[in-house]
Amino acid sequence: MLALSNLQIVQLLYSQTMSKEVVLSGIRPTGFLHLGNYFGAMRNYVRMQDDYNCFFFVANWHSLTTHPDTKELKTAVNRVVAENVACGVDPEKAAFYVQSDVPEIAELYLYLNMLSYKGELEKTTTFKDKVRSQPDNVNAGLLTYPVLQAADILIHRAVKVPVGKDQEQNMEMARNFAQRFNHRYGDVFPEPYAFNYGENLVKIMGLDGDGKMSKSENQNATLYLADDDYTIRKKIMKAKTDQGPVELNSIKPDYIENLFTLMKLVSSNDTVAKFNDDFNNSSSGNCVIRYGDFKKQLAEDMVAFIKPIRERAADLQSNKEELEKIIKQGADKARASASETIKLVRKAVLG
Ligand code: TRP
Repeated sequence: MLALSNLQIVQLLYSQTMSKEVVLSGIRPTGFLHLGNYFGAMRNYVRMQDDYNCFFFVANWHSLTTHPDTKELKTAVNRVVAENVACGVDPEKAAFYVQSDVPEIAELYLYLNMLSYKGELEKTTTFKDKVRSQPDNVNAGLLTYPVLQAADILIHRAVKVPVGKDQEQNMEMARNFAQRFNHRYGDVFPEPYAFNYGENLVKIMGLDGDGKMSKSENQNATLYLADDDYTIRKKIMKAKTDQGPVELNSIKPDYIENLFTLMKLVSSNDTVAKFNDDFNNSSSGNCVIRYGDFKKQLAEDMVAFIKPIRERAADLQSNKEELEKIIKQGADKARASASETIKLVRKAVLG
């Protein structure tokens, strides 16, 4: 039998980690995580952490553009960490850290700021939106938000960035900054791209059939991972429906389709098949679906789905020691990688 020394095993594990592609994503600690975040982001993170060298982080510096209260920010950071771990993000597998624990990001941000231009920053849609929505607080951090985001990504020389469509412009800017840097100082950075499993991410609309679930708005139409059983049932029972289909095999209106989407995510296949049949034609007759029963079933399955996540997250939030351990472990991993990159960057820029 082949016997490996401890050193060889460590080297082997290291080379396996190093040869995997680097995945990175950031989560802003604003508001409460919801079902849309779970199925759009966290579920994918959990799958990716086995296949890639993953860096996931809580973007607390990014949140400072709106000057949040210090204590509230800290609470929000802890909650986001706890909720992600409760969803299955594994601090042993991925580097899961808080942005402000990695000062190398701020240093890279400084260098990249010298390569980014006022005109291009002012043109970004998120900036223009903010200028409109908060005209009294158009600070420089807001303007250079995409530069900080590029630094987040490039600090680990990440190539795959699991983000939604709304981040496409920031991704394009990150690629531009990487190219500009490489062109001026020599090749340091690969170009990062948005990446997700499968062609389409599941889209989860609000329970009122209007728009998406939201971390801070539209709270009655959003299912939060922190919602208690009563609240989950209440929100689902109030979800928008109508008098039901009158013809066989009708096309489902958006708000009904969305409830079926939710059911597919949390209920058994048999349950989904039964209600689908009842919507169309079943042994008990045509279009016999009763939305009251349908929502009751969905509510029970949703409660069973969210409850363990909520409870694990709550446990972690009340266990400060455990939480700090997780955050420290993430910071150590992230800094090990970031300090390698920043060495190359300093050498390239400063000589
Ligand atoms: N801007 C992202 C958002 O609003 C969060 C974010 C910050 C991010 N830095 C990142 C996402 C780096 C991916 C990579 O959701």
